Amino acid sequence: MPERSRSSSAHISPSAHYTGYVWYRHQLAESAFVTAFGRFVHKLLWPLTWGARAGFGLDIEALLLQRHLQIDALLTEAIEQGGVRQVVEIACGLSPRGRRFCARYPQLRYLEADLPAMAARKRLLLHGEGWLDGRHQVRAVDILAERGNQRLGALFADLERSEPVVVITEGLVNYFPLTLIEGFWSRLANELGEFPAATYLTELYPDLREHPRYRQLRWGVDLIGRLTRGSYPLHYRNHDEIVAGFRRCGFAQVQVLDPSADASRLGLAPSRLPGLVRVIQART
Ligand SMILES: C[S@@+](CC[C@H](N)C(=O)[O-])C[C@H]1O[C@@H](n2cnc3c(N)ncnc32)[C@H](O)[C@@H]1O
Repeated sequence: MPERSRSSSAHISPSAHYTGYVWYRHQLAESAFVTAFGRFVHKLLWPLTWGARAGFGLDIEALLLQRHLQIDALLTEAIEQGGVRQVVEIACGLSPRGRRFCARYPQLRYLEADLPAMAARKRLLLHGEGWLDGRHQVRAVDILAERGNQRLGALFADLERSEPVVVITEGLVNYFPLTLIEGFWSRLANELGEFPAATYLTELYPDLREHPRYRQLRWGVDLIGRLTRGSYPLHYRNHDEIVAGFRRCGFAQVQVLDPSADASRLGLAPSRLPGLVRVIQART
């Protein structure tokens, strides 16, 4: 990976302040996770998010909650029914999931990871609240790094290889072109192959051209790209392309979920429009 592209993904980190504030607003996080920047950006974008909801029925926060709660539900199932005791959450940002799951499951080892600056910030936050200990830790990782101490292999080095593992990324993959993210998924599948059972949970926004709000969606993702000084490409056209893509990267079983179809079980209001986000559960 050229050094130029690697360092360029740091521009994505500010978006974690916005989502961190959204999780707090919806009672999924304590106030310690709120930053002044997150609150400010939320206020700044409010006219736009309000307009999208009132004008086009596109509820950005509902969309974020769909992905977050669907991933929570799958993780809960992996722990309670699959006996999983180690979780790695990459691109954790200011997400409260590690804190919530460690409080709920005392047997869990939870490794949060992000780019160095965001990881340092998260470590400080959790440490300041007295929430970090031997089983809940924060590490630096760069999903694009193929060498050095921020590569995936270094992150997985002291996990228990004889136990199942769950790896999560949320709010990450659509910030990268498909070839880059497929490179990451291939390296991830390779690492996960060393565990007796491994599950990868992520969400992605496909290029749903037939969706009734496709034009507004394109406008919205262009805006996210501009706000984060990058781009926000949509990946794959449909269910079959998603499955084929993950299989190409080395995942043997791929399940594609539409959280909008599961709204009541996730505790969300029913969606009036077809779902825009998909949650993927991929196993090696
Ligand atoms: C939109 S935020 C999502 C944060 C959190 N998962 C959530 O849903 O609230 C994207 C996160 O990806 C992280 N990130 C960006 N590039 C990365 C990379 N190359 N390796 C690891 N994390 C990265 C950013 O620092 C940021 O925390």
